[in-house]
Amino acid sequence: MNRTIFAGIGHYLPERIVKNQYFEKFMDTSDEWIQERTGIKERRWVDEGETVSGLALKATELALQRAQMKPQDIDFIIFASMESDVVFPGGGCFLQHKLGIPGVPSMDIRNQCSGFVYGLTVADQFIRTGMYKTILLVGAEIQSTGLDLTTRGRDMAVLFGDGAGAAILTASDNPNRGVIVSKLHADGTYAKKLWGEWPSITHHPRITPEMLKTDRIFPKMEGRYVFKHAVTRFPEVIREALDAANLTIDEVDLVVPHQANLRITEAVAQRLGITMDKVYSNIHKYGNTTAATIPICLSEAVEEGRIKEGSLLALASFGSGFTWASSLVRW
Ligand code: ACO
Repeated sequence: MNRTIFAGIGHYLPERIVKNQYFEKFMDTSDEWIQERTGIKERRWVDEGETVSGLALKATELALQRAQMKPQDIDFIIFASMESDVVFPGGGCFLQHKLGIPGVPSMDIRNQCSGFVYGLTVADQFIRTGMYKTILLVGAEIQSTGLDLTTRGRDMAVLFGDGAGAAILTASDNPNRGVIVSKLHADGTYAKKLWGEWPSITHHPRITPEMLKTDRIFPKMEGRYVFKHAVTRFPEVIREALDAANLTIDEVDLVVPHQANLRITEAVAQRLGITMDKVYSNIHKYGNTTAATIPICLSEAVEEGRIKEGSLLALASFGSGFTWASSLVRW
C-alpha cells in the first residue's frame, strides 16, 4: 500500500503586522497581559480585499515550487478552513479556479483548529488506497475581520491571526517515510464552549439590525474551560498515536502542536515529559491561525532546518467542536 509523503510545504502570512499595543487603543488590555497569558507578541491581519483563497494560493505556490510540481500535477484539493471567501461555496473551489485546474475535485473541511490534521488523515486514506496520487492540502484562515475589538471581546480578539499553509502530499512506495498513523476525535457536548453563533442559519431572517447590536455575532469562548481540556487532550491524543505505532515520545524529533496559547504548549511538553526544544512554537509571531497553524509551523520548521528528511514528527491539534487529533509523520 502507498505511503503519503510531504513533497512540498509552503506558507503565507499577510504583510500587515498587528502588535499587542494596537489593542490598547480599543479595549482594556496591555501588551504585558497578552504576552504573559498567551505568549503572543504580534499577529498578521489581512488588509481590505485580501481573501482566504488568495492567502491559500500564495502558500500553495510556494509548496508547489518546493515540490517541483505544477498545479496540473494536483489530483485533489482539500481545503481546511472555518471560512470561505463568501458564505458559499467553500474556499477550495475559489482556490481551484485561481490555480487554473478546472475539473479537479475540491473538498472543504470545517474542523476549526483540527482542520489540517483531519484533512491530512482524509488525504492519507485516498493516497494509501491509490484513488489519488497527489493531493493539495491547505489550511487557510481570516479571523481578524470577525472579532469584537472592544473590552467585551478582549479574551478572543487578542488571540487570533490570519494566514495560510499548504502541503503537497504524494504517494510513495518507501515504507519508511510518510504518515504513519492518525487519531481523530470530536465531542459535540462542548460545541458551545467555543463557537460562533450568529448569523444563524435557523433564525428567520438569519441576521437583523437588532442582532448586529449584540455580542452574539462575535466568536465566544469559555477560555479557562477550553484551556483545561486542551492540556489534557493534546498529550492524550499524541500518546494514543504513539501507542498505535509502537513508538515512544523519546523517538519523536519534533512535536508540532496547534498554537493556541504558549502556556498550553508548555503544559503539554511538561505532561509529555519533554523539553520545549522538542516542541515547535511560533505563536509569538502569528497568534492562533486556526487550521493554518500546523502547516505554517511545518513550513517554517523546514526552513529553519528543524525538520529534515527522516525526522519523526508528532502533529497535534485541539479546538472548537471540541475536536482534537494527532498524526505521526516520518518526514
Ligand atoms: N486583556 C486583559 N485582561 C483580559 C484579557 C485581555 N486581552 N482577556 C481576558 N482578560 C481578563 C478576564 O476578563 C479576567 O478578568 P476577571 O478576573 O476580572 O474576570 C482575567 O483576565 C483572567 O481571565 P482568564 O480567562 O482566567 O485568563 P486566562 O489566564 O485563562 O487567559 C485565555 C485567557 C488566554 C483566553 C486562555 O484561557 C486560553 O488560552 N484559553 C484556551 C484557548 C484555546 O485553546 N483555544 C482553542 C483553539 S481556538 C479554535 O479552535 C478556533
